Amino acid sequence: MAHATRSVGATIRVWDVPVRLFHWSLVVAIALAFVSSEEDSPLAAWHMVAGWVAAVLIGFRLCWGFIGNAQARFANFVKPAAVFPHLRELIAGRPERSIGHNPLGGLAVLALLAGTAAVTWTGIRMTSGGGSEDLHEILAFSLLGLIVVHIVGVVVMSLLTHDNLAQAMVTGRKAAHGGQLPVAPRRFRMLAHLGGVAIVGLLVLGVIRYDAGAFIPGSREEAEHAEQHAALGGPVLEANDDD
Ligand code: HEM
Ligand code: HEM
Repeated sequence: MAHATRSVGATIRVWDVPVRLFHWSLVVAIALAFVSSEEDSPLAAWHMVAGWVAAVLIGFRLCWGFIGNAQARFANFVKPAAVFPHLRELIAGRPERSIGHNPLGGLAVLALLAGTAAVTWTGIRMTSGGGSEDLHEILAFSLLGLIVVHIVGVVVMSLLTHDNLAQAMVTGRKAAHGGQLPVAPRRFRMLAHLGGVAIVGLLVLGVIRYDAGAFIPGSREEAEHAEQHAALGGPVLEANDDD
């Protein structure tokens, strides 16, 4: 009978739209930040834009962790006491499937958010003359390591629990499997979504106040050229350009 329910395809809503948009936008932003990170990359002008987008996404997610749906909330998946029992199940090869993040996955989420925040923070520090490129680069490659662990974790848990987790992060839904408790209906959803849009808007405005060219590809290079120009004295540079 359990099979019958599964094939009927009853599903439960797990990840809300903002969490899914956040997740896949973050994947794109981080991928772009990496492929554009070498100074001589043809995409170099996009590095800071991608990094700023990642920073805004992290800021949004930290807020959404308090006003998002049940599975989006930190209170729902930050459960240190549940980590060891979960590890025991995992070692026995029989982990319970979970509606939202499992206890270990919850830790991975925090690590990914903190890792991305650290990389963007050190990147932003560099634009104001502080910070170190080495530290930024070390953190970026540590984040890459974390991402690999994350993807392996998703694949392993998908195999062990027979849930296609990656698909759930796209559709927002997991199979209901008969007896599983339905997810409580969401109250104040509209209000929370409006709040989410407002938060993103404020973050973007804040970033632009800090760095007017943050979302314009290559604006930093142009600003630097203008500065060099001024430092060297415009006419001298122009005279050089002529010969
Ligand atoms: C998740 C986001 C980010 C990742 C994964 C990332 C990654 C990297 C990496 C790997 C490098 C070293 C490139 C090399 O080999 O020389 C680098 C350099 C750099 N990053 Fe980031 N970064 C991110 C965000 C940012 C942000 C937000 C800023 C500033 C707003 C920034 C500014 C810079 C600068 C100025 C450099 C050195 C110059 C250059 O190569 O363009 N990065 N980044
Ligand atoms: C740049 C690469 C990636 C980063 C930075 C990243 C980051 C994250 C973060 C922060 C979360 C928590 C979501 C939330 O609650 O807001 C998450 C969850 C998740 N990610 Fe990724 N992710 C990356 C790539 C991927 C890829 C390629 C896949 C597909 C295989 C994937 C599948 C998932 C799944 C299935 C979850 C939910 C995990 C669970 O069921 O507990 N991620 N990811």
